[in-house]
Amino acid sequence: MLKKNVEDALNAQILKEEHSSRIYLAMAIWCEANGYPGAAAFLYRQSDEERMHQLKLVHYVNDRGGKAVIGSLETPEASYNSLVDVFQKVMKHEQYITESINDVYAITLEEKDYTTGNFLQWYINEQIEEESTMSTILDKLNLVGDQKGGMFHIDKELEAMTAAAPSPAAE
Ligand code: FEO
Repeated sequence: MLKKNVEDALNAQILKEEHSSRIYLAMAIWCEANGYPGAAAFLYRQSDEERMHQLKLVHYVNDRGGKAVIGSLETPEASYNSLVDVFQKVMKHEQYITESINDVYAITLEEKDYTTGNFLQWYINEQIEEESTMSTILDKLNLVGDQKGGMFHIDKELEAMTAAAPSPAAE
């Protein structure tokens, strides 16, 4: 049985994962409308991944005798200044999520809920991977600046990365 404060912290994280999914969906739509089909594919997939992160938490809370709840969310930004702007915001958001996961993990330690702490290890590792991927993309974008050719190349790379990645549900 989950302790109330652990359950509340997991439910807050459920909402944050859903919010992440909606933010990346809004970014994917912007990319698609602005001539970046590769970045759009990458972010649509990222949005699916966040939905999977949310569902994994929902099932965990319910399986442990808690009650998963969802709440209302603010509408994500619909327009961005550039592709660099998009990925800077993705990076910032992932750093925020990493902090949030660490905070939930700290609560599980305080409560000696090692089962939930163990479950959260998956998220801790996922955050390392996501921050590293976003940082690599951002480095490349910063390197090409506003050169159209370089930007086109990165967009193609993002398309290839997305095509090669396993589907979120299979992970
Ligand atoms: Fe589910 Fe990218 O955090």
